[in-house]
Amino acid sequence: MNAPHNRRLPIGVFDSGVGGLTVLRALREALPQEDLIYLGDTARLPYGTKSKSSIVRYASQATAQLQGRGIKLLVVACNTASAVALDALQEQMQPLPVIGVVEPGATAAVAARPGGRHLVLATEATVRYGAYRKAILRRDDHAEVRELACELMVSLAEEGWTDGGIAEAIIRRYLEPLAELDFRPDSIILGCTHFPLLRPALERVVADATAIVDSAGTTARVAAASLADDELLNEQQGPGRLQLMATDGASRFARIGGRFIGEDLAASDIELVDL
Ligand code: DGL
Repeated sequence: MNAPHNRRLPIGVFDSGVGGLTVLRALREALPQEDLIYLGDTARLPYGTKSKSSIVRYASQATAQLQGRGIKLLVVACNTASAVALDALQEQMQPLPVIGVVEPGATAAVAARPGGRHLVLATEATVRYGAYRKAILRRDDHAEVRELACELMVSLAEEGWTDGGIAEAIIRRYLEPLAELDFRPDSIILGCTHFPLLRPALERVVADATAIVDSAGTTARVAAASLADDELLNEQQGPGRLQLMATDGASRFARIGGRFIGEDLAASDIELVDL
């Protein structure tokens, strides 16, 4: 059973790993008074190369863990889980709201370049499900969308090699086939929560006129609007509490997660949980 509606409950956020902390950071900026509870399923990362049934099972177990703690809203801060498992998670969480990152990302892209050519950089599973293509075309039938699986970019972000020659060379290599197809994107959508860390390298590789779209800010605004509509905004004074959980590797989570969240973390800040 879901916890009863309660404005004092935290917002639950999960990702396959640390990448979703980019969304958590945007949530903290948009909703500083909210308590947040984050789960990174680091033991099973990456989700992006797995089958639909595994992704749905993993995402459902992560959701159950957060449900068990008592949350008022779930943010699926993982593009792969949002693309593949959102319907199942919405059913599991009923009547509480579930917000994924794909729909807000599509909204941001269409707003940035109406009628434009959009390139989605994502995981294999997100590309296979074409969730961004569908979401963008639902909003703008003049848009053109191409999706590109860039698995190595997840590893680059996890390793912290987000800037400099290696990151730029790998991004260039992924974009090469598009140049051959003469596809010049008006917008590039960071369709994986790890990719905002690679934004500076990407900006150096692509044309200045190309908008780089990140779903984190739009997702946080959708979450804020959902809480306001449901009269679930936390009205406590002072900053909200942050609770971090992972399924493996507290030290690694702290070391790499700190870069995503923009502050130093210690292994003792991370609670290890078994799903
Ligand atoms: N966080 C995942 C996403 O946004 C990328 C990492 C993974 O494949 O699990 O799609």
